[in-house]
Amino acid sequence: MKHLETKRLVLRDWQQNDLQDFFAYASKPNIGPAAGWPAHTCIATTQQILDSFIKSQEVWAITDKQSHRVIGSFGLHLDKHRNNPNCRMIGYVLDDSYWGKGLMKEAVEAVLDYAFNDLSLDLISVYHYPFNQQSKRVIEKCGFTYEGTLRRALVHFDKGVIDSCCYSMTKEEFNQQKRS
Ligand SMILES: CC(C)(COP(=O)(O)OP(=O)(O)OC[C@H]1O[C@@H](n2cnc3c(N)ncnc32)[C@H](O)[C@@H]1OP(=O)(O)O)[C@@H](O)C(=O)NCCC(=O)NCCS
Repeated sequence: MKHLETKRLVLRDWQQNDLQDFFAYASKPNIGPAAGWPAHTCIATTQQILDSFIKSQEVWAITDKQSHRVIGSFGLHLDKHRNNPNCRMIGYVLDDSYWGKGLMKEAVEAVLDYAFNDLSLDLISVYHYPFNQQSKRVIEKCGFTYEGTLRRALVHFDKGVIDSCCYSMTKEEFNQQKRS
């Protein structure tokens, strides 16, 4: 995947030697469940997911420019709710030591720029669980449009059947936002 740089972050391909950094945040109880996956309890699980990230070519490692540590992940996936192959859905997580500094907004903006201006995509979507107010704030601050809530859309591993709040941004909206 293309290497993307922001003021404080670098988004790059995952590497096998990222395993320890990945496990360090993926094993925390407050990260994965907000994004739909259980905290990793053993490093073998982290290794499996790391292998799948490397193979998929759909997920960046988010690294902190200062420490060069991997502090999160950022995915750009097909959106299974839309048949248009020019749409993608984003998903992201960040180590809680780095929360509250506006870092994910930086990452989202870099990915939107890449998605619309390099890949010429039509639309980027993003979803959050109703309980995830932190992700909701990132989405709002990035200027996405709320489309609605898909009721009983997902089965969360812990909470069971759950709604999914849906947002999107078109290429035109992104470029308009950049100009203003
Ligand atoms: C969602 C997430 C990526 C936000 O990243 P971030 O870079 O911290 O985002 P921001 O700094 O813009 O903060 C967003 C909101 O989180 C809340 N917040 C900030 N620091 C926080 C902290 N330490 N603890 C709890 N909430 C916090 C604030 O309400 C903030 O909104 P505000 O800017 O209006 O005050 C991050 O919280 C995360 O990785 N959460 C777990 C995984 C997840 O939810 N992924 C998204 C799945 S849809």
